[in-house]
Amino acid sequence: MSNIRAAIKGIHGYVPDYVLTNAELEKMVDTNDEWITTRTGIKERRILKGEGMGTSHLAAKAVEGLLQKTNAKPEEIDLLVCATVTPDFVFPSTANLICDMVGINNIGSFDVQAACSGFIYALTVGTQFIESGRCKKVIVVGADKMSAIVDYTDRTTCVLFGDGAGAVLLEPNTDGFGILDSIVRSDGSGLPYLHQKAGGSRYPPTHETVDKRLHYAYQDGPNVFKFAVKRMADVSAEIMERNGLTGDDVAWLVPHQANLRIIAATANRMDVSMNKVMLNIHKYGNTTAATIPLCLWDYESQLNRGDNLILAAFGGGFTWGSAYVKWGY
Ligand code: ACO
Repeated sequence: MSNIRAAIKGIHGYVPDYVLTNAELEKMVDTNDEWITTRTGIKERRILKGEGMGTSHLAAKAVEGLLQKTNAKPEEIDLLVCATVTPDFVFPSTANLICDMVGINNIGSFDVQAACSGFIYALTVGTQFIESGRCKKVIVVGADKMSAIVDYTDRTTCVLFGDGAGAVLLEPNTDGFGILDSIVRSDGSGLPYLHQKAGGSRYPPTHETVDKRLHYAYQDGPNVFKFAVKRMADVSAEIMERNGLTGDDVAWLVPHQANLRIIAATANRMDVSMNKVMLNIHKYGNTTAATIPLCLWDYESQLNRGDNLILAAFGGGFTWGSAYVKWGY
């Protein structure tokens, strides 16, 4: 392996203005603030409003901000990878649309679909292009407009999700900073527990699929919870062990934000105290591929060069994964 690492040189995020509170959800379905808060940790989430607005609009805002912050010119970007489970269209890819919106032309761009683990998957892919020497500047985006596939008559899912986007710029580094390791895993037998029933090639859209409300995210919450607790904790412990890290060595755990109880179980397994865990679930809910970059964005001012970060996620598929990042600035 070469000594070139993919270092994160900048981070930016975007969430839409509209705030959907627990109080507003109480008026829409049979739920209450106390249940949502104690079971999930969520207080409010952001929703993208406006006809014809999709995931690419969220992502483009994050990428535009990233280019400005890092003084990178659109023509300098070599590759853009977008993790999303809510693409604007079945095709073309959302990554293609983002590039067009921000003035990035004539490069490779594609989507990665690994649900809530999408950002760790996309980060792992982007890292390979830097480490191989093929690319000098890679943008990795995690973006989802979950409100497009949430059934706001289903209290078991509609309280959980929100919309948002986050993006990082990767550049080569030979001083030991960057994505030092990652693990990505999947298990397709998780299909029954978390999926969207219709709209793909097995069950294309028909009047019947629409009438039966099959175009929304379906989740068997308690079963997903059991898998998520185990897998996210296991994969975090595994990446620490194989890199010789103890809880004391970890500056920050950056977990996927699906449920505060899953996050607490992961931190406990890693022997990391909750004051070293990045959290934004209370204000954004589960933004799927965007939770981890949005956390990094929120906590950017508290990060120091050389900090050890463990990123960890679990999501539909099932998919799960972790990454060990040595912060570079
Ligand atoms: N308000 C009030 N009551 C509710 C609500 C609600 N919004 N939703 C469910 N309930 C009720 C249920 O009907 C049930 O009632 P019953 O006991 O009378 O049957 C009771 O509350 C308990 O429901 P559970 O589903 O057992 O609650 P649980 O404690 O498991 O919490 C939750 C549900 C929050 C969804 C949890 O299971 C969870 O977090 N699951 C994992 C989520 C996850 O990690 N997903 C992966 C990423 S998502 C992705 O990849 C797209």
